[in-house]
Amino acid sequence: MTFAVAIDGPAGAGKSSIAKAAAGKLGFLYVDTGALYRTIALYLLREQIDPRDPAAVEAALPGLEVGIEAAEEGQKMFLGEEEVTALIRTPEVSMAASQCSAIPAVRAYLLELQRELARKNNVLMDGRDIGTVVLPDAQLKIFLTAAAEERARRRVRQLEAAGQKAEFEKILSEICLRDEQDSRREIAPLKPAADSLLLDTTGETLEESVQRLVEMVEARLREQGTRL
Ligand code: DC
Repeated sequence: MTFAVAIDGPAGAGKSSIAKAAAGKLGFLYVDTGALYRTIALYLLREQIDPRDPAAVEAALPGLEVGIEAAEEGQKMFLGEEEVTALIRTPEVSMAASQCSAIPAVRAYLLELQRELARKNNVLMDGRDIGTVVLPDAQLKIFLTAAAEERARRRVRQLEAAGQKAEFEKILSEICLRDEQDSRREIAPLKPAADSLLLDTTGETLEESVQRLVEMVEARLREQGTRL
């Protein structure tokens, strides 16, 4: 049997960095499901398809080949043969991903791919609807969040470290807009699963949050007497 940890939470809460580091310590596979939506968004933008147009997006899905590959340095994403791991991290793709993720056909398209990863591996899977929809039977569900201002500050630091320009106010308003879009949509909105534990990382360093997450997983493994 495999063990699944579902981690949901808003944009920029540090889910990816925290979950990735914790997965490394635990020997679990880290799955960033946002990257799947981002890869679809990149494809739509390239094909000049409006990511808010359900009919046009649905019609484009059969032409899509989304590939995911686990690598030492992290998860790699592919569109057909082309690696797009770095290309999906722009603000345009973030916004288009948030928009196309509200389309039921897009979510249905990705559902089985995500479940299959969790059937075959012990996973720490992060997203918006992992505990509520994708893996409702996950052994541990975590709602990972941080105050919006802190999320914006972290994002500014990340962008600056990558040599990109970053304006705090603009980033904060983008984060608030995405929160709103992701929480208000009709299908699979961002909300804590009823049986999730809260991990609020406001004011914590990355290492502290990673340590808390690892401890939560280890405690659940002990409670369930699971040996991996
Ligand atoms: O986690 P992220 O910022 O990379 O996600 C990009 C967008 O994809 C996000 O705005 C909402 C959507 N998403 C989703 O709807 N469900 C998921 N499980 C993961 C991401």
